[in-house]
Amino acid sequence: MKVLIFDTAQQAADALADKLIKQVLSHPTCTLGLATGGTANPVYDKLVRTHLAGDISFKGVRTFNLDEYVALPIAHPLSYHTYMAEHLFEPCDFQTENTHIPNGNAPDLAKEARRYENAITNCGGIDCQFLGIGENGHIGFNEPTSSLASLTRVKTLAPSTVEANSRYFETPEDVPRLCITMGIATILRAAEIALLAVGKRKSEAVRNMIEGPLAAMCPASALQLHQHAEIYLDSEAASRLELLDYYKSVHPCGHAPPL
Ligand code: PGA
Repeated sequence: MKVLIFDTAQQAADALADKLIKQVLSHPTCTLGLATGGTANPVYDKLVRTHLAGDISFKGVRTFNLDEYVALPIAHPLSYHTYMAEHLFEPCDFQTENTHIPNGNAPDLAKEARRYENAITNCGGIDCQFLGIGENGHIGFNEPTSSLASLTRVKTLAPSTVEANSRYFETPEDVPRLCITMGIATILRAAEIALLAVGKRKSEAVRNMIEGPLAAMCPASALQLHQHAEIYLDSEAASRLELLDYYKSVHPCGHAPPL
């Protein structure tokens, strides 16, 4: 794992956005795996700003989102379809047929999950997967005790995730209990992974992901098995790491030191 620690959340998000921008500029027909959530907002803001400045086109880029709620209408303001349209797809020049999000309203959800997994494989796999992390260590909606070998499937949200996401909904009862999510094995198949975590409330999950045992209780710890996983942190999210000084010495301010 490459652990990159930045002074501020904005710097960490900017650096991750720069990685995605570099990927698209060098491979304009690449496939990106995309995340949703508050942490992702400043990353998408930078991609949109770069596009509006005329410095990048997403016309040839294919995307696969990690997850979507079950039974929430696609046009619902809190669906991940709506999130992606508003934060990234509509302000940029993505082609609708190239953007993929699981259909949580499919009549046969198990079939939809298999279709989604196959669609990722059939397009040659994901070149770079952008991830956030939940306070409970989830990636996508792979909640603690998810199989580390899991593929895209229906999952039940953990009570702590329902509570964390209830800040967006009117009442906790409005938060959907089911979702379709890429599995942990799906995520690990990506050629590269870039995870962003900011703020003190993520610091325990971050420690468990990087320094804890490989364990289904912290699904993000599965990234320890990946050969090209980069973890972008602000100083608060990094604050509980035991080997903090080591990571900072390897990549001061998130950068590789001059050799
Ligand atoms: P957040 O969600 O960015 O809203 O904290 C991240 C996640 O749960 O994966």
